Amino acid sequence: MSDPAAAPPPRRVRVHHLREAKERGERVTMLTAYDALTARIFDDAGVDVVLVGDSVGNVMLGHDTTIPVTVDQMIHHTRAVSGAVRRALVVADLPFGSYEASPRQAHATAVRLLKEGGAHAVKFEGGSRVAEHVRLLSSSGIPVMAHLGFTPQSEFALGGKRVQGRGSEAADQLQADALELQEAGAFAVVLEMVPAPLAARVTEVLSVPTIGIGAGPDCDGQVLVWSDMAGMDDWSPRFVKRFAELGAALGEATRDYLHEVRAGTFPGPEHSFAE
Ligand code: KIV
Repeated sequence: MSDPAAAPPPRRVRVHHLREAKERGERVTMLTAYDALTARIFDDAGVDVVLVGDSVGNVMLGHDTTIPVTVDQMIHHTRAVSGAVRRALVVADLPFGSYEASPRQAHATAVRLLKEGGAHAVKFEGGSRVAEHVRLLSSSGIPVMAHLGFTPQSEFALGGKRVQGRGSEAADQLQADALELQEAGAFAVVLEMVPAPLAARVTEVLSVPTIGIGAGPDCDGQVLVWSDMAGMDDWSPRFVKRFAELGAALGEATRDYLHEVRAGTFPGPEHSFAE
């Protein structure tokens, strides 16, 4: 009988595997996670990339936006995820206010996420304005995933959650930004809430993979916030598919538990220790 503890650890996903997947025409899979329990489930299921997104602010910490999320909070959640994941590449977001001011600021924050959080790579939002940040980190050995289109940290400047890159001028700008970030060293580019034809065009011109969220079917990979994918709450924008209804299932389990405790049917003898 084989001893599962003796099984070799699965081969770790590295950034070059994502580029090779694009070359082979294989889709890259990515999900967010913020804690060890869900990260291990997604890793065991075979997800390629786990993103410790600053969406932790909305999903786990009860904020309306990602703006209040701190570097210390990102490190805390990244540590939990990186400790649980054995195969997937762990990417951590640089939160609002922790990188925009200069490439050096971005470098200092990214170093903390790798050293203290155990991340394998970082992601941050923005186009041309952060190209030098990407260049410094990449040349320092820190893999960077770029993020274009709707960038939630700029929600107030963008006038809300709106599709980006509509119209030829905005589309050309987004494509130029993507090419500049790739040239600066980004190993992948997230495209969020971008018209599908534009995402397809950017995917075609880039040699690094694009990871879409609300960007249609032609990106090289897809990402969703895990609680949206699993149907944990009522919020469900057009680009989300609910692959389960875990929120409803958890509510039902909770109501059953409360009922049995109140009725005295749980715990029963089978849940009790003999003398
Ligand atoms: O923080 C996050 O979850 C993200 C994804 C939406 C891409 O950046």
